Amino acid sequence: MSSLDRSVSTSRAKVSVSRDDQGAFFSLATGEGKEPLDVRVGFERRGQIGLRTDLLARAIGFKKNNPLRVFDATAGLCRDSFHFFCLGCQVLAIEAQPILFEVVSEQLARQVHSDRLKLIRGDAVEFLTTQAKELSAAPAFDVIYLDPIFAHDKSKSARSGKESELLRALAAEPDEAADQQLLVAALAFKGVRVVVKRPLRAKEISVPADGKNLFLSKHSIKGAAIRYDVYTC
Ligand SMILES: C[S@@+](CC[C@H](N)C(=O)[O-])C[C@H]1O[C@@H](n2cnc3c(N)ncnc32)[C@H](O)[C@@H]1O
Repeated sequence: MSSLDRSVSTSRAKVSVSRDDQGAFFSLATGEGKEPLDVRVGFERRGQIGLRTDLLARAIGFKKNNPLRVFDATAGLCRDSFHFFCLGCQVLAIEAQPILFEVVSEQLARQVHSDRLKLIRGDAVEFLTTQAKELSAAPAFDVIYLDPIFAHDKSKSARSGKESELLRALAAEPDEAADQQLLVAALAFKGVRVVVKRPLRAKEISVPADGKNLFLSKHSIKGAAIRYDVYTC
């Protein structure tokens, strides 16, 4: 039997956290008369990842025997962070939403428990801004990865429908200005590759052309439904 530990109601859904012998999971109730959907956070390793075909590996510029240090600024359910981890990267992920942070960190401790994948709670813009100020020598990351909630997220085939609904229910509303702030904070790190996940046909997040970011070059890695915009400076 599961024990109900806490719940949160938003305008979009009611989300409860319960626990059973497999750990913590979410129950997502999206409307009256609808059965709540259980969403479990699982981290199962897949077989070998094909580096030439894997979009995320290509987007972060991963090469065999060259593990990268990745900062995931929008951890969510840590699906992408776990993918970087499975590639062999050192991953630091940050999540602002308290319940997501709590459940995902609990499951990471249960299922992954490795120093190579760490989740912290906080705001990525604040974290990156502080890091950028304190940075005296080389940056602590090779890659900064951003996957902000997008207004029309249906095309994000990488997430199952219920995971997407859960993230939409818990995370802050899509906000262009917040996305831009996050991208600008990431681009402050010279020599760090910044990768932004977008639905395939969405416009890119605009960067203010104030002269500070003119050394940007950008390309995209495209999949069937999503693309990764890659910025190097
Ligand atoms: C679309 S989800 C990311 C999904 C994630 N890539 C995965 O694999 O599960 C975006 C997440 O970023 C978080 N987020 C957005 N802005 C943030 C910020 N400034 N700092 C920390 N977390 C943030 C949201 O709370 C949400 O959980």
